[in-house]
Amino acid sequence: MTDLQDGAVLVVDFGAQYAQLIARRVREANAYSEIVAHDLTAAEFAALNPAGIIFSGGPASVNVDDAPAIDPGVYDLGVPILGICYGAQLIASQLGGVVSRFEAGEYGRTDLTLSATQGLLAGQPINQSVWMSHFDCISELPDNFVVTASTANAPVAAFESELICGVQYHPEVSHTPHGQELIENWLDRSGIAREWTMANIIDEQVEAIRQQVGAGRAICGLSGGVDSAVAAAIVHRAIGAQLTCVYVDTGLMRLHESDQVVETFQKTQGIELIHVHAADDFFAKLVGLTEPEAKRKAIGETFIRVFERASGGIEDANFLVQGTLYPDVIESGSKHASTIKSHHNVGGLPDDMQFELVEPLRTLFKDEVRKLGTELGLPDEIVWRQPFPGPGLGVRIIGEVTPDKVDVLQRADFIVREVLRDAGLEREIFQSFAVLPDIRSVGVMGDERTYGYPIIVRAVTSEDVMTADWARIPYDVLETISSRVINEVDGVNRVAYDITSKPPGTIEWE
Ligand code: XMP
Repeated sequence: MTDLQDGAVLVVDFGAQYAQLIARRVREANAYSEIVAHDLTAAEFAALNPAGIIFSGGPASVNVDDAPAIDPGVYDLGVPILGICYGAQLIASQLGGVVSRFEAGEYGRTDLTLSATQGLLAGQPINQSVWMSHFDCISELPDNFVVTASTANAPVAAFESELICGVQYHPEVSHTPHGQELIENWLDRSGIAREWTMANIIDEQVEAIRQQVGAGRAICGLSGGVDSAVAAAIVHRAIGAQLTCVYVDTGLMRLHESDQVVETFQKTQGIELIHVHAADDFFAKLVGLTEPEAKRKAIGETFIRVFERASGGIEDANFLVQGTLYPDVIESGSKHASTIKSHHNVGGLPDDMQFELVEPLRTLFKDEVRKLGTELGLPDEIVWRQPFPGPGLGVRIIGEVTPDKVDVLQRADFIVREVLRDAGLEREIFQSFAVLPDIRSVGVMGDERTYGYPIIVRAVTSEDVMTADWARIPYDVLETISSRVINEVDGVNRVAYDITSKPPGTIEWE
């Protein structure tokens, strides 16, 4: 638990998919927030000195035997509490009220009527729409609480006492239009300072990095992705020339990507950068390999060898900078998790590397990392970069990977992304790229028969990577992609668009 910061708003996770969203909304209101498990004792809560505590929603019913609960001592800590959905029911039930099962639950948009417009609901319209997802609801409040809002099937949709409030609906989702105001009201009525800004984060992190690294030397592997880029930029701000970045050019990067990384870090940010030109090593290892996992393994192992060779030359390096984000920390289940993400770099770095980790982003969500990157002066092309797999174009070329195929794919991929960007679609699309399959087909260009590769365009929307849908790109944009790719990329005579969602497809083709 030592990882948690003193004075945070703690979001207690009752197993809802919404806990992370609640923490993000609190942070958007400029108060620092972290997620904790529900089984901490009251003494453990007290030791964290929270500014406030929010109980999240959850799938259980408070009336079943092993329903997750909170140590009742938490109610006596004198800390402001907000319960949401299950969290609100838990407060009612633990403090002497009644939670019952009504005939009908409420799911989705629901009309709410306020009976008070002060405190938690200050300044809000009497009638408004809120997002509900419940079957049980509070039928009787404990003493000293007042009802402040209700809906058709939830007589107690909002309630408060001096220190403790609850709402049956979900203020954290965008379908509750006045939800963010409610969270801000709760912070204000609870006297919680709203001073958590990007500028403060930079100051705090810079100080923490200086404390950790002291006079030591740190290295950072840049992948071209946003996380490692922002991590490098903030560590550089903290320790300047004590940081050396290593960029391994695998030959499997997108067109102009390596130049851009070198330009941004070496020239604009003034960071010492070792640019390792290792394409030949990678291509040599990929000869004859066609099976996707064998290709991944070869790329991963080669990456480790090349990285070790390059970083081994940096004398006295004892710190390794990693762009671990808050969701990775939560998902790893341990507040002390300091293992290196295998997904983060190509194949991950070996466990026996003798470095202490510096992880300046481990309290931040992805959108916060982007804001931080902008604040640190990184260009939009890096800050808004789409996710890119560690093995790079190696998993977007079906079958054997050769320099010639990489050349064809790089040029087609560049056009795909350029056309989508010019059409203003780049930010709403989660990932967009070209794939080069291992087949050729007959076509005709002018009077000549052609026998060339098809290019498959893949573009997906996604919130969480686990599921994705193919992007509904307008036909005229697809048309521009098709004609430009075929006219400008030698060896390609067809363009296809992948209309498979995930599942059953995956985002990548290998
Ligand atoms: P799939 O293809 O499984 O991809 O739907 C999910 C996300 O992960 C990325 N991806 C990878 N990233 N190493 C990585 O660092 C890999 O081997 C790898 N394979 C897939 C993919 O781009 C998508 O964002």
